[in-house]
Amino acid sequence: MNRRNFLGILPAIPSINHLEFAKPPGPMVISTWDFGKVANNQSWKVLSAGGSSLDAVEKGINIIEEDENNQTVGIGGLPDREGHVTLDACIMDHESNCGSVMGLENIVNVISVARKVMEKTPHVILVGDGALQFAVDQGFKKVNLLTPKSEKAWREWLKTSKYEPKMNIENQLYKKDPMPGGPDNHDTIGLIAMDAKGNISGGCSTSGMAYKMRGRVGDSPVIGAGLFVDNEVGAATSTGVGEEVIRCVGSHLVVELMRQGYTPEDACKEAVMRIVKKSPAKSKNIQVGFLALNRKGEYGAYALQKGFSYAVKTSNADIVIPGKYYYQ
Ligand code: GLY
Repeated sequence: MNRRNFLGILPAIPSINHLEFAKPPGPMVISTWDFGKVANNQSWKVLSAGGSSLDAVEKGINIIEEDENNQTVGIGGLPDREGHVTLDACIMDHESNCGSVMGLENIVNVISVARKVMEKTPHVILVGDGALQFAVDQGFKKVNLLTPKSEKAWREWLKTSKYEPKMNIENQLYKKDPMPGGPDNHDTIGLIAMDAKGNISGGCSTSGMAYKMRGRVGDSPVIGAGLFVDNEVGAATSTGVGEEVIRCVGSHLVVELMRQGYTPEDACKEAVMRIVKKSPAKSKNIQVGFLALNRKGEYGAYALQKGFSYAVKTSNADIVIPGKYYYQ
């Protein structure tokens, strides 16, 4: 016990020695939901060629952003209640550099814009029109993100205009006829990669809550909430109802718990329990999931509800794992 603990002034600052290792366990990549498998395989092309975790994160997320069938990320994302598709994304590297865009319209690869914010500006966050102007200046092409399929779903929703974030009871994304605005109306791609050097980066990209209020931003582009990386410890990301994740600064919380010695799964579980404790009634009817990786290459996840899944890719695994959950 050191002097500070003895005096009862501050809690012990935990040693991180337990997370030290001789040889990096990477490369590896983990990401949220079943569709993470597609992202992981794209990331793997970078990692297996000796590329950086940052490049792996960007490329892995790009492929999901470009998938029109995915109605929660990138082109084809479900719009806000006024019919605008507004995208949020953030990225963070092993040196704690980070970049974020919020409420960005008409650009598909918003994770790449977030990376440009990180690398080309003195800022961390750009929003709305300013983010769009920056993206165009950087050479990104403007496109209409509202696909016929998402427009049809939005017009259907307009008939009742009932705003009701649903639970992700099961992953509907790659089903033949996903419910318009149904259970998958608040998914996110959160992806964490470790490269051969053991450096960890992460990223998050989403169209946010389907039929959200104009201007609403969730956890995904908020560093510390939807994503956090500390190369000394590990990284975490989240998916689900972002308002609840922001309230507990979820991904930062998970990383700090891992610093204290929690396993990735236990750290994710503790973050979920904070949400249950703070919002006992609401938490029964919403989904939030956390996913984490530590420097030893251990990973884990935990969610409020059944239905959350995550994908893992290493040199000898390419799998989707059902996440453990609190409400049985
Ligand atoms: N987790 C995505 C959102 O709440 O916007």
